[in-house]
Amino acid sequence: MTTLADFAPLEHLVEHALASGDETALHVLGYGEITSVLAWPNADGPWACKRLPVFDRADRLADFRAQFGHYVATLQSEGVQIHESRIEIVPTDDGTVAYIVQPTLEPSALGPAVLRGSSETDGRALLSAIIDHIATVVSPVVGLDAQLANWGLVDDELVYFDISTPMLRDEHGHDLLDTELFMSSLPPFLRPVVRKFLLGSILDQFFEPRAAALDLAANLYKERLGEWVPTVFELANERLRLDRALTVDEAKRYYRRDMRVWGMLQTMRRVDRSWQQKIRRRPYRFLLPGRINRRL
Ligand SMILES: Nc1ncnc2c1ncn2[C@@H]1O[C@H](COP(=O)(O)OP(=O)(O)O)[C@@H](O)[C@H]1O
Ligand SMILES: [Mg+2]
Repeated sequence: MTTLADFAPLEHLVEHALASGDETALHVLGYGEITSVLAWPNADGPWACKRLPVFDRADRLADFRAQFGHYVATLQSEGVQIHESRIEIVPTDDGTVAYIVQPTLEPSALGPAVLRGSSETDGRALLSAIIDHIATVVSPVVGLDAQLANWGLVDDELVYFDISTPMLRDEHGHDLLDTELFMSSLPPFLRPVVRKFLLGSILDQFFEPRAAALDLAANLYKERLGEWVPTVFELANERLRLDRALTVDEAKRYYRRDMRVWGMLQTMRRVDRSWQQKIRRRPYRFLLPGRINRRL
């Protein structure tokens, strides 16, 4: 078992990268929509570290911990195997930094690579297993980001590892997640707009089986695995008993919109970063994901 001290040097490197704008000392394993995933201490791990937004108060961190534990337990109780994960804390001068730490998966064990190397039968079985999880887990109170890039194989078993955003809601549809914590990575001038017009719809898609399947399918274009989209639809239309069948046109439209929304948010965050660093001469506090090569 590693101790708290092990991750302080990583945070030190991250802070140096943030202050200097030079991220070359960091080993980036992958990009999500929110941040970068870093390998530590070596370029291949053994740890994959996901830096959460800085916690300004102890009760916020305690609340996150509780939601995180609850989310993992909920998914497990529905039969989703969760990749071994823990929260590591690094106190800093202006708040508490927390990392979600997991063993690194081999690049060849990540969902998109697995599908890329699969036969027709194996690929179908993989997508079918993910759609089964959508069918059993996704509900108005439990969200799942089922895209292929959030799954991997450990000892030939399908595991889910994207648990940094514990998506749980109460029976009135209110997010239990501290959404403001994640909003803090957006420039202040954008927050009211995103809060009002975007946040609900971004999160909603994870709480509705049809939308989760559409997202899984549409993201295959990003991975250049678009040839599997019809298989996802066939499986989803049947397993999720959809009244309105999913279609390729819908997936393409959805993907273009998704690309625009995230592209816009990303650009705004970069603009804000330059403003903070070059004009205000203040260190920027978030590790932004690199550019994703999206095409359709
Ligand atoms: N444990 C891990 N081992 C190897 N790569 C990982 C691991 N966790 C995440 N990654 C890589 O980083 C990407 C983003 O990680 P993810 O947990 O999905 O974060 P996000 O919430 O930002 O989407 C993944 O799609 C994958 O490529
Ligand atoms: Mg992800």
